[in-house]
Amino acid sequence: MLNPNLFNIPKIIIALDFCNKKSAMKIVNLLNPSIYYLKIGKEMFTVLGCQFIKELHQLGFNIFLDLKFHDIPNTVFNATKAAADLGIWMLSVHASGGKKMLVSAKKALKSFKTAPLLIAITALTSLKEEELKEIGIQMSLKEYILTLSKLSNDCGLDGIVCPGKEAKKIKSLFGDKCKIVTPGIRVAEDALYDQNNIITPKEAKKYKIDYIVIGRSITMSKDPIKKLELIIKSMQ
Ligand code: C5P
Repeated sequence: MLNPNLFNIPKIIIALDFCNKKSAMKIVNLLNPSIYYLKIGKEMFTVLGCQFIKELHQLGFNIFLDLKFHDIPNTVFNATKAAADLGIWMLSVHASGGKKMLVSAKKALKSFKTAPLLIAITALTSLKEEELKEIGIQMSLKEYILTLSKLSNDCGLDGIVCPGKEAKKIKSLFGDKCKIVTPGIRVAEDALYDQNNIITPKEAKKYKIDYIVIGRSITMSKDPIKKLELIIKSMQ
Protein backbone atom coordinates (compact mmCIF):
# COMPACT_ATOMS: atom_id res chain seq x y z
CA MET A 1 0.00 0.00 0.00
CA LEU A 2 1.38 3.41 -0.98
CA ASN A 3 2.21 5.72 1.90
CA PRO A 4 0.95 9.24 1.02
CA ASN A 5 2.98 10.74 3.88
CA LEU A 6 6.12 10.09 1.86
CA PHE A 7 5.04 12.59 -0.77
CA ASN A 8 4.29 16.28 -0.56
CA ILE A 9 0.56 15.87 -1.07
CA PRO A 10 -2.57 16.73 0.95
CA LYS A 11 -3.20 14.48 3.94
CA ILE A 12 -6.24 12.25 3.66
CA ILE A 13 -9.22 12.27 6.01
CA ILE A 14 -11.74 9.50 5.42
CA ALA A 15 -15.35 10.51 6.16
CA LEU A 16 -17.05 7.65 7.99
CA ASP A 17 -20.64 8.42 7.03
CA PHE A 18 -22.43 5.18 7.87
CA CYS A 19 -25.59 4.29 9.75
CA ASN A 20 -24.07 1.34 11.60
CA LYS A 21 -20.81 0.25 13.17
CA LYS A 22 -20.39 -2.90 11.06
CA SER A 23 -20.20 -0.95 7.79
CA ALA A 24 -17.86 1.63 9.31
CA MET A 25 -15.50 -1.01 10.68
CA LYS A 26 -15.22 -2.65 7.24
CA ILE A 27 -13.45 0.51 6.07
CA VAL A 28 -11.64 1.24 9.35
CA ASN A 29 -10.06 -2.22 9.38
CA LEU A 30 -8.51 -1.54 5.96
CA LEU A 31 -6.77 1.65 7.06
CA ASN A 32 -3.42 2.32 8.69
CA PRO A 33 -4.00 4.76 11.60
CA SER A 34 -0.57 6.31 11.20
CA ILE A 35 -1.44 7.37 7.65
CA TYR A 36 -5.17 8.16 7.52
CA TYR A 37 -7.34 10.40 9.66
CA LEU A 38 -10.99 9.54 10.29
CA LYS A 39 -13.90 11.96 10.28
CA ILE A 40 -16.92 11.30 12.47
CA GLY A 41 -19.86 13.44 11.47
CA LYS A 42 -23.42 13.92 12.63
CA GLU A 43 -24.67 10.54 11.38
CA MET A 44 -22.09 8.27 13.04
CA PHE A 45 -21.97 10.35 16.20
CA THR A 46 -25.74 10.23 16.57
CA VAL A 47 -25.76 6.47 16.08
CA LEU A 48 -22.68 5.48 18.08
CA GLY A 49 -21.72 8.44 20.27
CA CYS A 50 -18.52 8.97 22.24
CA GLN A 51 -17.90 5.28 22.82
CA PHE A 52 -17.10 4.78 19.13
CA ILE A 53 -14.57 7.62 19.24
CA LYS A 54 -12.89 5.96 22.23
CA GLU A 55 -12.71 2.67 20.32
CA LEU A 56 -11.17 4.36 17.29
CA HIS A 57 -8.65 6.08 19.57
CA GLN A 58 -7.70 2.71 21.00
CA LEU A 59 -6.99 1.56 17.45
CA GLY A 60 -4.64 4.53 17.12
CA PHE A 61 -6.65 6.84 14.84
CA ASN A 62 -6.73 10.63 14.98
CA ILE A 63 -10.33 11.79 14.83
CA PHE A 64 -11.85 14.83 13.19
CA LEU A 65 -15.15 15.35 15.02
CA ASP A 66 -17.22 17.13 12.40
CA LEU A 67 -20.29 18.17 14.38
CA LYS A 68 -20.24 21.69 12.92
CA PHE A 69 -21.24 23.47 16.13
CA HIS A 70 -23.52 26.46 15.53
CA ASP A 71 -25.21 27.80 18.67
CA ILE A 72 -25.03 30.59 21.24
CA PRO A 73 -21.49 31.30 22.51
CA ASN A 74 -22.02 29.69 25.94
CA THR A 75 -23.34 26.44 24.45
CA VAL A 76 -20.55 26.28 21.90
CA PHE A 77 -17.97 26.97 24.64
CA ASN A 78 -19.22 24.01 26.71
CA ALA A 79 -19.68 21.69 23.73
CA THR A 80 -16.17 22.50 22.46
CA LYS A 81 -14.69 21.75 25.89
CA ALA A 82 -16.59 18.46 26.07
CA ALA A 83 -15.38 17.50 22.58
CA ALA A 84 -11.76 18.34 23.45
CA ASP A 85 -12.06 16.21 26.60
CA LEU A 86 -12.54 13.24 24.27
CA GLY A 87 -9.01 13.74 22.98
CA ILE A 88 -10.01 14.36 19.38
CA TRP A 89 -7.56 15.81 16.85
CA MET A 90 -9.78 18.25 14.93
CA LEU A 91 -13.16 19.89 15.55
CA SER A 92 -15.48 21.95 13.38
CA VAL A 93 -17.75 24.92 14.07
CA HIS A 94 -19.77 27.04 11.63
CA ALA A 95 -18.10 30.39 10.92
CA SER A 96 -21.57 31.84 10.30
CA GLY A 97 -22.20 31.49 14.06
CA GLY A 98 -20.40 34.83 14.33
CA LYS A 99 -17.41 36.38 16.04
CA LYS A 100 -18.53 35.86 19.67
CA MET A 101 -19.29 32.20 19.02
CA LEU A 102 -15.94 31.60 17.31
CA VAL A 103 -13.99 33.37 20.07
CA SER A 104 -15.87 31.29 22.69
CA ALA A 105 -14.94 28.06 20.93
CA LYS A 106 -11.29 29.15 20.81
CA LYS A 107 -11.38 30.16 24.51
CA ALA A 108 -12.77 26.76 25.48
CA LEU A 109 -9.55 25.13 24.25
CA LYS A 110 -7.19 27.38 26.21
CA SER A 111 -6.79 25.02 29.16
CA PHE A 112 -5.87 21.99 27.00
CA LYS A 113 -2.23 20.97 26.70
CA THR A 114 -2.86 19.42 23.30
CA ALA A 115 -5.98 21.08 22.01
CA PRO A 116 -7.71 19.87 18.85
CA LEU A 117 -7.33 21.94 15.72
CA LEU A 118 -10.34 24.25 15.60
CA ILE A 119 -11.62 24.55 12.07
CA ALA A 120 -14.47 26.74 10.78
CA ILE A 121 -16.90 25.76 8.05
CA THR A 122 -17.29 28.60 5.57
CA ALA A 123 -19.77 27.28 3.00
CA LEU A 124 -20.95 23.72 2.63
CA THR A 125 -19.56 22.19 -0.55
CA SER A 126 -23.12 21.22 -1.44
CA LEU A 127 -24.25 24.86 -1.52
CA LYS A 128 -25.09 26.46 -4.88
CA GLU A 129 -24.73 30.18 -5.55
CA GLU A 130 -28.53 30.62 -5.90
CA GLU A 131 -29.15 28.92 -2.54
CA LEU A 132 -27.22 31.71 -0.82
CA LYS A 133 -29.85 34.21 -2.01
CA GLU A 134 -32.58 31.93 -0.59
CA ILE A 135 -31.04 32.29 2.86
CA GLY A 136 -30.78 36.05 2.47
CA ILE A 137 -27.12 36.39 1.58
CA GLN A 138 -26.65 38.90 -1.20
CA MET A 139 -23.00 38.22 -2.07
CA SER A 140 -21.39 35.72 -4.37
CA LEU A 141 -20.39 32.34 -2.96
CA LYS A 142 -16.75 33.35 -3.41
CA GLU A 143 -17.18 36.60 -1.45
CA TYR A 144 -19.14 34.77 1.25
CA ILE A 145 -16.37 32.18 1.67
CA LEU A 146 -13.68 34.88 1.81
CA THR A 147 -15.66 36.94 4.35
CA LEU A 148 -16.10 33.96 6.68
CA SER A 149 -12.49 32.85 6.20
CA LYS A 150 -11.28 36.29 7.26
CA LEU A 151 -13.57 36.27 10.29
CA SER A 152 -12.35 32.80 11.35
CA ASN A 153 -8.74 33.78 10.85
CA ASP A 154 -9.23 37.02 12.84
CA CYS A 155 -10.77 34.99 15.68
CA GLY A 156 -7.63 32.86 15.87
CA LEU A 157 -9.03 29.60 14.52
CA ASP A 158 -6.57 27.06 13.16
CA GLY A 159 -8.10 26.75 9.76
CA ILE A 160 -11.16 26.58 7.61
CA VAL A 161 -13.22 24.15 5.60
CA CYS A 162 -13.87 25.46 2.11
CA PRO A 163 -14.52 24.30 -1.44
CA GLY A 164 -11.25 23.51 -3.19
CA LYS A 165 -11.47 26.25 -5.80
CA GLU A 166 -11.22 28.95 -3.11
CA ALA A 167 -8.25 27.39 -1.32
CA LYS A 168 -5.48 29.07 -3.31
CA LYS A 169 -6.80 32.57 -2.64
CA ILE A 170 -7.29 31.83 1.09
CA LYS A 171 -3.75 30.45 1.42
CA SER A 172 -2.36 33.52 -0.28
CA LEU A 173 -4.29 35.81 2.10
CA PHE A 174 -3.74 34.03 5.41
CA GLY A 175 -0.59 32.01 4.86
CA ASP A 176 0.34 28.48 5.77
CA LYS A 177 -0.74 28.83 9.41
CA CYS A 178 -4.34 28.70 8.22
CA LYS A 179 -5.00 25.03 7.54
CA ILE A 180 -7.31 24.28 4.66
CA VAL A 181 -9.63 21.30 4.81
CA THR A 182 -11.54 20.47 1.64
CA PRO A 183 -14.40 18.01 1.12
CA GLY A 184 -16.11 17.44 -2.24
CA ILE A 185 -13.23 15.38 -3.62
CA ARG A 186 -14.07 13.39 -6.74
CA VAL A 187 -12.17 11.53 -9.45
CA ALA A 188 -13.48 11.30 -13.01
CA GLU A 189 -15.64 8.18 -12.62
CA ASP A 190 -17.23 9.23 -9.32
CA ALA A 191 -20.85 10.23 -8.88
CA LEU A 192 -21.42 13.81 -7.73
CA TYR A 193 -24.13 12.79 -5.21
CA ASP A 194 -25.23 15.96 -3.35
CA GLN A 195 -21.93 17.85 -3.80
CA ASN A 196 -21.65 20.83 -6.14
CA ASN A 197 -18.25 22.37 -5.54
CA ILE A 198 -15.98 19.48 -6.30
CA ILE A 199 -12.30 19.19 -7.23
CA THR A 200 -10.04 16.27 -8.10
CA PRO A 201 -7.25 15.11 -5.75
CA LYS A 202 -4.74 16.40 -8.32
CA GLU A 203 -6.29 19.88 -8.12
CA ALA A 204 -6.19 19.66 -4.31
CA LYS A 205 -2.42 19.23 -4.51
CA LYS A 206 -2.13 22.11 -6.97
CA TYR A 207 -4.15 24.40 -4.67
CA LYS A 208 -1.89 23.46 -1.69
CA ILE A 209 -4.77 22.13 0.38
CA ASP A 210 -3.59 20.66 3.69
CA TYR A 211 -6.27 18.02 4.21
CA ILE A 212 -8.74 16.47 1.80
CA VAL A 213 -11.89 14.83 3.13
CA ILE A 214 -12.95 11.84 1.09
CA GLY A 215 -16.19 10.03 1.76
CA ARG A 216 -18.27 8.21 -0.82
CA SER A 217 -15.51 8.09 -3.43
CA ILE A 218 -13.83 5.56 -1.10
CA THR A 219 -16.63 4.25 1.09
CA MET A 220 -18.92 3.37 -1.84
CA SER A 221 -16.10 1.84 -3.85
CA LYS A 222 -16.03 -1.91 -4.46
CA ASP A 223 -12.32 -1.88 -3.71
CA PRO A 224 -11.57 1.03 -1.32
CA ILE A 225 -7.82 0.34 -1.11
CA LYS A 226 -7.41 0.22 -4.88
CA LYS A 227 -9.34 3.48 -5.10
CA LEU A 228 -7.17 5.09 -2.42
CA GLU A 229 -4.04 4.05 -4.30
CA LEU A 230 -5.45 5.55 -7.48
CA ILE A 231 -6.20 8.80 -5.65
CA ILE A 232 -2.71 8.93 -4.08
CA LYS A 233 -1.02 8.16 -7.44
CA SER A 234 -3.01 10.92 -9.11
CA MET A 235 -1.51 13.41 -6.62
CA GLN A 236 2.13 12.33 -6.90
O1 C5P B 1 -19.08 11.54 0.49
P1 C5P B 1 -18.39 12.88 0.36
O2 C5P B 1 -16.95 12.75 -0.07
O3 C5P B 1 -19.19 13.85 -0.46
O4 C5P B 1 -18.37 13.41 1.86
C1 C5P B 1 -17.97 14.68 2.22
C2 C5P B 1 -17.96 14.79 3.71
O5 C5P B 1 -17.53 16.08 4.06
C3 C5P B 1 -19.31 14.59 4.41
O6 C5P B 1 -19.06 13.88 5.62
C4 C5P B 1 -19.80 15.98 4.72
O7 C5P B 1 -20.54 16.04 5.93
C5 C5P B 1 -18.50 16.75 4.88
N1 C5P B 1 -18.50 18.18 4.58
C6 C5P B 1 -18.88 18.72 3.36
N2 C5P B 1 -18.83 20.08 3.15
C7 C5P B 1 -18.43 20.90 4.12
C8 C5P B 1 -18.03 20.36 5.35
C9 C5P B 1 -18.07 19.01 5.55
O8 C5P B 1 -19.20 17.96 2.45
N3 C5P B 1 -18.34 22.21 3.91
